[in-house]
Amino acid sequence: MKTDIEKLRAEAVLDLEKVESLESLEEIELKYFSRKDGLLNGILKQLKDLSPAEKKESGQLANKVKQELEEIIEKKKFELERKKVEESLAKDFIDVTLPGIRSEQGSLNPMSIIQNELEDVFKSLGFMILDGPELESDCYNFESLNIPEHHPARDTQDTFYINQKAGDEKLLLRTHTSPVQVRAMQKYGAPLRAVVPGRVFRYESVDASHDNTFYQLEGIMIDEDISITNLIAVMKTLLKGIFKKDVKVRLRPGFFPFVEPGFELDINCLICGGAGCSVCKHTGWLELLPCGMVHPNVLRAGGIDPEKYSGFAFGLGLTRLVMMKYGIDDIRLLSSGDLRFLKQF
Ligand code: FA5
Repeated sequence: MKTDIEKLRAEAVLDLEKVESLESLEEIELKYFSRKDGLLNGILKQLKDLSPAEKKESGQLANKVKQELEEIIEKKKFELERKKVEESLAKDFIDVTLPGIRSEQGSLNPMSIIQNELEDVFKSLGFMILDGPELESDCYNFESLNIPEHHPARDTQDTFYINQKAGDEKLLLRTHTSPVQVRAMQKYGAPLRAVVPGRVFRYESVDASHDNTFYQLEGIMIDEDISITNLIAVMKTLLKGIFKKDVKVRLRPGFFPFVEPGFELDINCLICGGAGCSVCKHTGWLELLPCGMVHPNVLRAGGIDPEKYSGFAFGLGLTRLVMMKYGIDDIRLLSSGDLRFLKQF
């Protein structure tokens, strides 16, 4: 029996030396230790036929061999697992010194660039930046701005009305950012300094300087003793902040029912230098910044006492300003999504 055990040990050690994969190691483990038909178990089963002395001696030897072989198997298993990990690491090796794949990078639309710059100018003057709904009520868009139904001033802003059931509140796509004047007064009261950049909509026939969807930036300042002088000073700061140089402007009377007096601030066309082109409709001037002193009726609609407070408001044509700033000769380019155009900014 002892010779059989020694022989088995030598054979198993030889088998284990030759093993090169985890799979064949498992096969060898089964060959010697399987409960059902393992070679070592086969020998141990014969112990019962031996004399007590031989049983003790052979039993001890068999246990020692079993322990030794198990240790060799464990060691081998560890080595083979490590080898497997090393091989897979070598296969998945990443060369970090290779040049990377450049990802496409977008850029800000010129509208956003100028809007951000204007917001910075106004924040530095202590103005809040506000937002308002694009789907607006007839009341905020017209009534509260001193433009009652059937007033001819409504005709200057061709409007997209929303089909509503009779009796429902009349809704429309806001034609200007001015409704936020009253919303802001109602929410914050006086004194008030706010600008409202935003998208507005008009039923317009589109040409080089008119679109049906464009951007405005509304401004409002209300306090005690606000006068036209404050209005002109803020307008000048605004234009200097954007153009970074003196631009020729002209102020002429303008009519808007929500301001009194009202003005139109025109800018000398920077596309043609004032000589006349399709953008300025060959006048040399471009209507950019309507403004005026807030009408007492509008202050009342906003819940502010016109006896105590006064203020100015303006409605900058943000899209037109962007065209002037960058010399863009067709408003349609700004919403065209044409990358050849957009990549220039
Ligand atoms: C208004 O919309 C008034 N709410 C502005 C205002 C605010 C006046 C506060 C007084 C006090 P107007 O309709 O003129 O005004 O439009 C303002 C500016 O928007 C114009 O000067 C022009 O620069 C721009 N604009 C008007 N229509 C278009 C259009 N179809 N496409 C592009 N820009 C336009």
